[in-house]
Amino acid sequence: MPIPNYREQVRFLLGQQEIKIGINNPNITLLEYLRLTARLTGTKEGCAEGDCGACTVLIGEIHQGNIRYQPINACITLLGMVDNKQVHTVETLAQDNVHPAQALMAEQHASQCGYCTPGFVMSIAALQCDLGDKSQTKVGASKAQIDDYLSGNLCRCTGYGPIINAAQEISKKPLSSAWQTQAQTAKKTIHEWMNDPRPLRCVGNKAIFVAPNSLDTLHDALLKHPDATLLGGATDVGLWITKLGKRLTNIIYLGQVSEMRNVSQTEDTLEIGAGVSLQDTQLLLGSLTPDLEHLMRRFGARQVRSQGTVGGNIANGSPIGDLPPALIALGAKLEIAGADGIRQIPLENFFIGYGKQDLSPGEFVRLIRIPINRNLHFRCWKISKRFDQDISSLMGAFSATVENNKFQDVRICFGGMAGTPKRASACEAVLLQQSVASDVLVHAKRALARDFEPITDMRASAEYRNYVAQNLLEKFILSINDKDQSILHKDTVWTTPAIHQ
Ligand SMILES: Cc1cc2nc3c(=O)[nH]c(=O)nc-3n(C[C@H](O)[C@H](O)[C@H](O)COP(=O)(O)OP(=O)(O)OC[C@H]3O[C@@H](n4cnc5c(N)ncnc54)[C@H](O)[C@@H]3O)c2cc1C
Ligand code: FES
Ligand code: FES
Repeated sequence: MPIPNYREQVRFLLGQQEIKIGINNPNITLLEYLRLTARLTGTKEGCAEGDCGACTVLIGEIHQGNIRYQPINACITLLGMVDNKQVHTVETLAQDNVHPAQALMAEQHASQCGYCTPGFVMSIAALQCDLGDKSQTKVGASKAQIDDYLSGNLCRCTGYGPIINAAQEISKKPLSSAWQTQAQTAKKTIHEWMNDPRPLRCVGNKAIFVAPNSLDTLHDALLKHPDATLLGGATDVGLWITKLGKRLTNIIYLGQVSEMRNVSQTEDTLEIGAGVSLQDTQLLLGSLTPDLEHLMRRFGARQVRSQGTVGGNIANGSPIGDLPPALIALGAKLEIAGADGIRQIPLENFFIGYGKQDLSPGEFVRLIRIPINRNLHFRCWKISKRFDQDISSLMGAFSATVENNKFQDVRICFGGMAGTPKRASACEAVLLQQSVASDVLVHAKRALARDFEPITDMRASAEYRNYVAQNLLEKFILSINDKDQSILHKDTVWTTPAIHQ
């Protein structure tokens, strides 16, 4: 297919104002642009690593034909990523009058030094957008929904009670007509932009930011810049810039490649494009099993999940990434594309060693294919010090079928126990063909201890990791035996997932 001409300026709506701007340095973050160029200093910088939420802004983008607003961290978002989107800051949020999120934070005395306040305002405004869309406003948000929206924001002074009250109150208010009007206008503008076939390519001082908008234009960009850094949601890459001080030269942003944001499902397979956000993945995987829903809910915080992608969580090769162990236990396969075509590999084979993945220059992860087995017993547990916004000390995922009361197709995978996500092959071998109710657990635990030599680091000691891994194994077997329903979920029942994209 012929490659269309490229556009050379990022275009987006800042509130309702159209911005068109070239990028000389592709490393510039949205936060730097807002504070230093647009002089909108309401958006604050706290941690510069996605943890505190002081820099939260709303991003509006077209989703299923409508405009959807989600909170993201501006500190780790690169400016080029907001192309064809709308950005709302604490300044642009107010329409005719102050936004209810702002009014309620003041009424509830939910601010003292005020440094965190703009971020909280944006997060509770996002909650209202979400609930407003679902006509849930009469009853208001549940405690879990409020926690979900606030867990990415930190306040050091006020105490969370008044902030939670403000969130509760806003969740009962329908979206104002002024807000809905601006959303419709934004949607129209973005739709027009998206009909323009030209992808974005900003050429700066010895550096390039390209945002291909199809697989064809992505292949073209990779052919020209095989050494470029691929950018998913930047929830890792953003920190290379803000924390490690790296200066990336060529960047290829994958977020506009529509084919990589697709989801499809047949009777026995679920395919998730590598560019699908972690937030949308929560809904998809959650409709397969409650454990996966719970796992995704504990992934970073709302801002991180809205931005980070499934492909990024796999391709970063982290030994403590949360999705890979679960997907490996489910028997997932990766589709990898490059100039030589497409190849499919079992996900576990992708992780060759610490920091080393089976991905050549010019290749990218295109999608994840997950088999659906309705007879599968599947459980997974993330172990970390905090419930929200914390990286795993270890993560265990277990799956097996049981025939004639014996284990079949056992797949056990751990994160945080080795330099890569790794299957517990000795333990699997011990369990295979053994009776579920037998005393196999003792032997299986011993085998598990042989499978791994975890390290001691700031998250956990080696002893703790070994001990907890064995306990999780026991919990899995107990859950199959269904002995203690008070502490365990009911066994997983596979249901038909609702497709959201
Ligand atoms: C505050 C915070 C909390 C976090 N909490 C968690 C957590 O609870 N659990 C967890 O597992 N992780 C967590 N993370 C890490 C991170 O959010 C995830 O790993 C996320 O999935 C990365 O996805 P991304 O799209 O943002 O990747 P990016 O940062 O864009 O990219 C990461 C790496 O993957 C490569 N890449 C991205 N997409 C592709 C592709 N399609 N093909 C080939 N290469 C690709 C990039 O080149 C880069 O090397 C957290 C991060 C932050 C900042
Ligand atoms: S400044 Fe802390 S999350 Fe962005
Ligand atoms: S009011 Fe001071 S940090 Fe929240």
